[in-house]
Amino acid sequence: MASSTPFGLQIRPRHLDFQLPDPLPRHWHGGDAFKTHLFNAMSVLFPDGERFFIDSVRQFRDRIEDPVLKAQISGFIGQEGHHSREHLAYSARLRDLGYAITPLERRAQGRIRYTQKKFSGQRQLAATVALEHITAIMADALLREPRHLQGAHPTLQRLWRWHALEETEHKAVAFDVFNQVCGDRRMLHRAMRLGTWFFLLDTSRGLILMLKEDGLLWNWQVWRDGLRWLWGKQGFFRGLVGPYRDFFQEGFHPWQHDNLALLQSTREEFDPVAAG
Ligand SMILES: [Fe+2]
Ligand SMILES: [Fe+2]
Repeated sequence: MASSTPFGLQIRPRHLDFQLPDPLPRHWHGGDAFKTHLFNAMSVLFPDGERFFIDSVRQFRDRIEDPVLKAQISGFIGQEGHHSREHLAYSARLRDLGYAITPLERRAQGRIRYTQKKFSGQRQLAATVALEHITAIMADALLREPRHLQGAHPTLQRLWRWHALEETEHKAVAFDVFNQVCGDRRMLHRAMRLGTWFFLLDTSRGLILMLKEDGLLWNWQVWRDGLRWLWGKQGFFRGLVGPYRDFFQEGFHPWQHDNLALLQSTREEFDPVAAG
């Protein structure tokens, strides 16, 4: 079992330009409103969330001496910065469709401001580590189980797969930095409980807002099928419960979920020449 990041793992941002369809198909995930808006709701949170991740790692950059981890931090910052920009373009498309997402963004921004003002740098970093774990296990599921994105518009599929690939590459960077500058597991566990609550709350809010805009909020079929897709047998979120709980195990490290082979095969899809 791996207890650390594979040595020398290269983390480089890919400067892909997605040219999202304009207008974005209203239900780009195979015509399914629930699936589409679940992904949309997460996307709305990314631009501010990822800037927060960057800031919380960057404030400890100078305290890291290991040249490999230093290079990985640069890669992490480059990747998250690029994700943030792509998801900002995505948000603009959602706005064009008439979804009033600004209050969702404001809420997330307000919470981040509060965290940055009231919490120590270490706790900010702990929050980043926790949310990066949630991101990493979702990314693994998306890459491992293509059915979660089956039927989606090809450009959106590619965008989510690209993001999932890079989340997998850098999944332990914040964790490794945290271990070097603090390492308090109880702090990490508290951050995870809080982070999970806000992640679920904000994602649900976004989902509800967009379903309401479509006039589907009270459509029981949409909820029945959607909840089955998330929590039913082979459900998207149901499969995450085990990997999520591993975070609380003693001595956990993100690379104990060894998905290096999956990472390599996905790299070949995106970097046909540079793979390896
Ligand atoms: Fe990201
Ligand atoms: Fe990330």
